[in-house]
Amino acid sequence: MNVLIRRMKETDIDDMTKVYLDSFKGMRDPESVEKWIRCNFNAYPRMQYFVAEIDGRVVGYILWVEKGGFRKEAVLELEQIGVLRDYRGQGIGSKLIIKSLEEMKKYLMGRGSKLKLVEVTTGTSNQAQKLYIKTLNAKPECLIKDLFRGDELIMIARF
Ligand SMILES: CC(C)(COP(=O)(O)OP(=O)(O)OC[C@H]1O[C@@H](n2cnc3c(N)ncnc32)[C@H](O)[C@@H]1OP(=O)(O)O)[C@@H](O)C(=O)NCCC(=O)NCCS
Repeated sequence: MNVLIRRMKETDIDDMTKVYLDSFKGMRDPESVEKWIRCNFNAYPRMQYFVAEIDGRVVGYILWVEKGGFRKEAVLELEQIGVLRDYRGQGIGSKLIIKSLEEMKKYLMGRGSKLKLVEVTTGTSNQAQKLYIKTLNAKPECLIKDLFRGDELIMIARF
C-alpha cells in the first residue's frame, strides 16, 4: 500500500472531517468539526496538520501543537491522530507520527530551535498508548481524572 504523508491543504478539510467523525466522539455535527479543523489550520505554524493519503484520498491525519511559545527548546503536543476505521492496523498511524515528526523537527531546526519533548494524552483504556510507546518511546507521566469522557493519561517523550 502506497501511503503518502504530507502537509495538510485547505482542500483536505472535507476528508479530514470524515476522519474525525469516524475516530472521535467529541463533536457529532460535521459543521462543528469543519470549523474546528479550519481554526487549527489557520493557527499555522503554532498548529500543524499532516495527512495520510492513499490513491488521492485522505485516510488519516495528525495534529501537532506547539506549547508555551516558539521556544529554543520546543515543547510539542501530539494533539490528535485519527485514521479511518477501514484503514487501521496497517501501520498508517505509526507512519503519520514518524514522518510528520521528522518534518516538525526540520521546521524547528529551520528557525533555530530543537525539540525538547512531546506530550500526548490518551484515555487510560485507549490502545493508542502502545502506538506512542512504539513510535515515540513515550512514557506515562501522570493521570488526569475525568478530562473528556474519562481519565486521561499524560505521556511524555523526551529527546
Ligand atoms: C490510534 C490510531 C490512529 C492508530 O492508527 P493505526 O493506523 O491503526 O496505527 P498502526 O496500524 O500504526 O498501529 C500501531 C500500533 O498501535 C496499536 N494500536 C493502535 N491503535 C489501536 C487500536 N485502536 N486498537 C488496537 N491496537 C491499536 C497496535 O498495537 C499497533 O501495534 P502493532 O502494529 O505492533 O500491532 C487509530 O486506531 C485511530 O484512529 N483510533 C481512533 C482515534 C484515536 O483513538 N486516536 C488516538 C487518540 S489519543
